Amino acid sequence: MRLADVGPDGGTFLNPAERTRAAGITDPAARRDFLAGRIALRAFAAGILGVGPGELTADYSCPDCGTGPELDHGRPGYRLHDAPAGLILSLSRSRGWALLAAGRAGAARETGTAGMTVGIDLEHSSGVMFPGFDDVALTAAERQLLVALPPEQAMPWRASAWARKEALLKARGTGLRIDPASVEAFAVPADGTAVVDLDTGALGLPAGFAAALAIVSQA
Ligand SMILES: CC(C)(COP(=O)(O)OP(=O)(O)OC[C@H]1O[C@@H](n2cnc3c(N)ncnc32)[C@H](O)[C@@H]1OP(=O)(O)O)[C@@H](O)C(=O)NCCC(=O)NCCS
Repeated sequence: MRLADVGPDGGTFLNPAERTRAAGITDPAARRDFLAGRIALRAFAAGILGVGPGELTADYSCPDCGTGPELDHGRPGYRLHDAPAGLILSLSRSRGWALLAAGRAGAARETGTAGMTVGIDLEHSSGVMFPGFDDVALTAAERQLLVALPPEQAMPWRASAWARKEALLKARGTGLRIDPASVEAFAVPADGTAVVDLDTGALGLPAGFAAALAIVSQA
């Protein structure tokens, strides 16, 4: 979705920690995008559950800081009437656009796994164009692969590699606490993990974006 298309009305349903984080974002465009993402994710989750957005309480979790309504960052989640809402969620924003992903937490039980998490990431080629990207973001094997690519394919490939890494790190719940240069973007994933490139054209995104979705199941 285009973040500018998200109306501000849903802002009334945001929780205090979400408002406090927004208030601390000094760049007005970044603040608007953050709020639009939170409003859109809450509306998305409420729509799937068939409840009103005000019935959900944000319940983010961070490996360092814990879980709960007072947390303003980390893996997204909600509680519904004081119980887990039963959704696995992910969000990514880039250059005014956002991708949201959701699954039913119950799907893990149906597939005989203990738990399932999802990670989505959207990246624009311009975001990976800075000097030094290859050193901070790519593994040695990826840097070798990149050298063999025709120059016009290098930036889309970098964006795709980065989207796949961030999708994986979100699905694992760590984010960039794990060095992205230690994550193989295109390797055959470990058991219980799937990473797919998303068709950005079919999703209605303008040219220049790459997007990936990762799913991690715990046996
Ligand atoms: C997760 C992360 C890789 C995303 O960065 P990004 O590409 O700049 O931003 P995106 O728009 O693609 O994703 C942002 C969303 O990722 C999600 N997210 C953040 N941390 C996450 C985690 N640990 N696991 C899963 N998802 C996470 C949130 O939904 C966040 O949305 P928000 O801004 O509304 O909170 C990056 O924020 C990160 O590594 N964070 C970890 C470090 C950190 O949070 N430190 C401070 C607290 S101790």
